[in-house]
Amino acid sequence: MSKVNLGIIGAGEIAKEHLKVIQALNDLNPIGITSRTLSKAKELAKTFRIKDVYNSVGDLTKNCEMDGILILVSADQIYGVAKELLPLGLPIFLEKPPALKLSQLKSLVKLAEKYETKNMVGYNRRYYSIFMKGQEIIQKQGDLLGLAVEGHERFWKTSRGVIPKKVLENWIYANSTHTIDLLRFFGGEVKKINVLTKRIKEKKGDQFVASMEFQSGSLGTYTSHWYSPGGWSVTLFGDGVTVKFKPLEKGVFIDTNLIESEIIPDNVDITFKPGFYRQMENFSSLIKTGKLNRPGEDLSQSIMTIELAEMFARG
Ligand SMILES: NC(=O)c1ccc[n+]([C@@H]2O[C@H](COP(=O)([O-])OP(=O)(O)OC[C@H]3O[C@@H](n4cnc5c(N)ncnc54)[C@H](OP(=O)(O)O)[C@@H]3O)[C@@H](O)[C@H]2O)c1
Repeated sequence: MSKVNLGIIGAGEIAKEHLKVIQALNDLNPIGITSRTLSKAKELAKTFRIKDVYNSVGDLTKNCEMDGILILVSADQIYGVAKELLPLGLPIFLEKPPALKLSQLKSLVKLAEKYETKNMVGYNRRYYSIFMKGQEIIQKQGDLLGLAVEGHERFWKTSRGVIPKKVLENWIYANSTHTIDLLRFFGGEVKKINVLTKRIKEKKGDQFVASMEFQSGSLGTYTSHWYSPGGWSVTLFGDGVTVKFKPLEKGVFIDTNLIESEIIPDNVDITFKPGFYRQMENFSSLIKTGKLNRPGEDLSQSIMTIELAEMFARG
């Protein structure tokens, strides 16, 4: 395969960010695009030199000769679009969240298995270069002893915006799964967990505190207070070294003399939306080789992240 032809579904903010990366990767060619509001698809087609604009998802799947598809639609639409596309058997990249309910995700996994469709979910923070460097700094000294993820949302602001009600009601799946997924990215699979959930205003919770032990033996905590300004952060506790990402895009490591040194991100994470370049490289490789490399996660692997979100929402 010389150039990989990609079909794009969705023409919003995140589609733009992916297209900037696709344009920079020489082996990828965005060949066709469709979106709910066609004028937006036409605009992106013009900016990013996409050959054809299709009237609907059905039109695109019927008439566009693609090697892979990107589903970049709104969070509440991903499940429906994915259900339509998985039976095609073409490799699919799905923006996060893959679904807003565990049962929906499980049905997507079944479809992917039935039609042997290679797929990848876009938890882009897995690809941050500073995360890889931070992990190496910890591993140089020994095992990861513990980690703390803080996933405070700006819900006082988010809930006043234009986000659909269904997405707001499922915010823990729609957005908080970014930080919940980082528990598994850094810690591996969870062996034991205790969860406390409080509901100030939201039915599915807006304050979450959890402590856990991972299969590796590391200990972890997750804290999220949706009405308290705090932002997202991760702290990794190693043997004689601590690595801190606060915000997630800025890393430091702290030695036993309590001296802090900065972890410098790679250029691709400065030029593009962080994580997006390596994430798209991984999707390209999935299309070419049929294999999903680390730190990529497919639909079936993302079940555990959505299961954790469900545990938090249940309390
Ligand atoms: N990885 C990250 O860091 C990150 C960051 C932000 C967002 N996201 C994810 O990326 C996705 C898109 O977010 P966004 O910020 O780009 O949203 P957005 O600006 O609202 O764009 C979504 C686009 O998808 C189109 N669309 C919606 N439903 C569709 C359907 N059924 N068929 C075809 N097109 C459809 C929308 O059309 P209209 O113009 O008609 O609405 C719009 O063009 C979301 O799932 C979100 O969770 C990821």
